[in-house]
Amino acid sequence: MAVKKKDQKRESISNTRTIHLTVNGQAYSLNVGSRPGEVETCHTLSHTLRETLGLTGTKISCDSGACGACTVIMDGRAILSCKTLTVECGGKSIITIEGLRDANTGELDPLQQAFIDNTAFQCGFCTPGIIMTSKALLSENQHPTEEEVKEALSGNFCRCVSHYQVVRAVMSVADKGRRS
Ligand code: FES
Ligand code: FES
Repeated sequence: MAVKKKDQKRESISNTRTIHLTVNGQAYSLNVGSRPGEVETCHTLSHTLRETLGLTGTKISCDSGACGACTVIMDGRAILSCKTLTVECGGKSIITIEGLRDANTGELDPLQQAFIDNTAFQCGFCTPGIIMTSKALLSENQHPTEEEVKEALSGNFCRCVSHYQVVRAVMSVADKGRRS
């Protein structure tokens, strides 16, 4: 009995020191600690995605929740990965810009293609965050109005002022299949 309790305690400690999460359909188990490759308790999800998992498509600009550049989708919702601690992401399913492309065919997501077709970026630094916010919106609401698109993107800033083209790109996808 005593051995069992000891085992349970050991198991519970090891559970708290390993974070299991899914990124772009791939399962990861990340150890919490301060050794190279481990996740420190102060690490943000944006840091972990870029520095630990090598997914540098997610950008960090303000690093304080003000610009939207670091947006990813977590369990279907757009979230700011610079304001999310990795240790709080256990059991979550995360999609980054790298996960939008069709894994089998390599084909771009229609939204990514629409950004190219509408030249909806200049330097492109804000683009992954804007696309992830738009993707979350379109998953929830397939045919948003232009006002709804602007509202959803109100937290994503573009220093190159590509906003008009961005709205046009998102609307080109939103309008597909819309009933008149
Ligand atoms: S980098 Fe996260 S909101 Fe700006
Ligand atoms: S395209 Fe340069 S910041 Fe948006």
